[in-house]
Amino acid sequence: MKKRRLKKGPIIFLGGLILTIVLFSIVIGLYKHYTSYEYKLGKIGYNDEEINEIIKLDKTYIDYALKKYDKYLISLANQKYFIWSRYDEYVSFIKKNYKNKSIDYKFVVSKVNTNTNYDYYTHTSKTDMNKGYAILVNKYHSLPDKYAPDDIVSMSNQYAYPNNSIRSDVYEAFKKMSKKAKEDGITLIVNSSYRDYASQKKIYEEYEDKRGQKYADSVAARPNYSEHQTGLALDIFTPGAGMKNFENTKAFEWLSKNAYKYGFILRYPKDKDGLTGYAYESWHYRFLGEDLAKKVFDSGLTFDEYYAYYLDK
Ligand code: DAL
Ligand code: ZN
Repeated sequence: MKKRRLKKGPIIFLGGLILTIVLFSIVIGLYKHYTSYEYKLGKIGYNDEEINEIIKLDKTYIDYALKKYDKYLISLANQKYFIWSRYDEYVSFIKKNYKNKSIDYKFVVSKVNTNTNYDYYTHTSKTDMNKGYAILVNKYHSLPDKYAPDDIVSMSNQYAYPNNSIRSDVYEAFKKMSKKAKEDGITLIVNSSYRDYASQKKIYEEYEDKRGQKYADSVAARPNYSEHQTGLALDIFTPGAGMKNFENTKAFEWLSKNAYKYGFILRYPKDKDGLTGYAYESWHYRFLGEDLAKKVFDSGLTFDEYYAYYLDK
């Protein structure tokens, strides 16, 4: 019998090919590992949890993270209204205001985006009066000197306590709202409305004399910085209720659900004093017109934020 001899050549070739493939795969694997974001970020000091978050971010942020360890990056970049170009401002606001406190990142982003990350009344400018009903008046944006609307009408005692007046369109909107509220068994009554410079000054100074500047600033605007001077703000109550208990009334509940349909928004909501600059005022409604009021209402933002994000162009 003839013995079949295996040919060595093809076996060596096949073995060599397999070895080359294996080695090649190992080299590729190593190359992939050492050039991966995961490896590089780990080298920089990010832990596994942070790395998982970072690799989900846009490439701009990953590139930034690859340059240095930054403990604020992930929380800031995940904020809905985060703006990359303002990153350094977010970080300096955090460093200044959160020495030993847990950081409210949402608030940080809002403060910087609305340009209100400065002490009140220290960085002020004249507001843009071309915005119509959407003008922004707050502790950073003042009215022009001697501003007075030219369409102020007085309000009848059916809708307001004596000596109240307001811009005519606002009056029409309030009347419409008030009539609808009445149908639902609710009586709305205006307690304060348009104020000229002198009356705003008087109100502010009364608070200041009684309880000092810090308190006055939390409840009243300095003259030229009040929405009441625009003729677009109304303090709305119901008979028998005042500042202390209006928020517990059916009228407040009704306004919370319906005011925006008539063009009004609650301007100084609860727990938003850090952004609006004012303690909660359940009675202060700002007229924006029906379309804009709905948008602001739906956004859940303060008007200061909404203005910065969508109107300040
Ligand atoms: N109470 C509001 C903030 C004003 O004085 O305009
Ligand atoms: Zn008011």
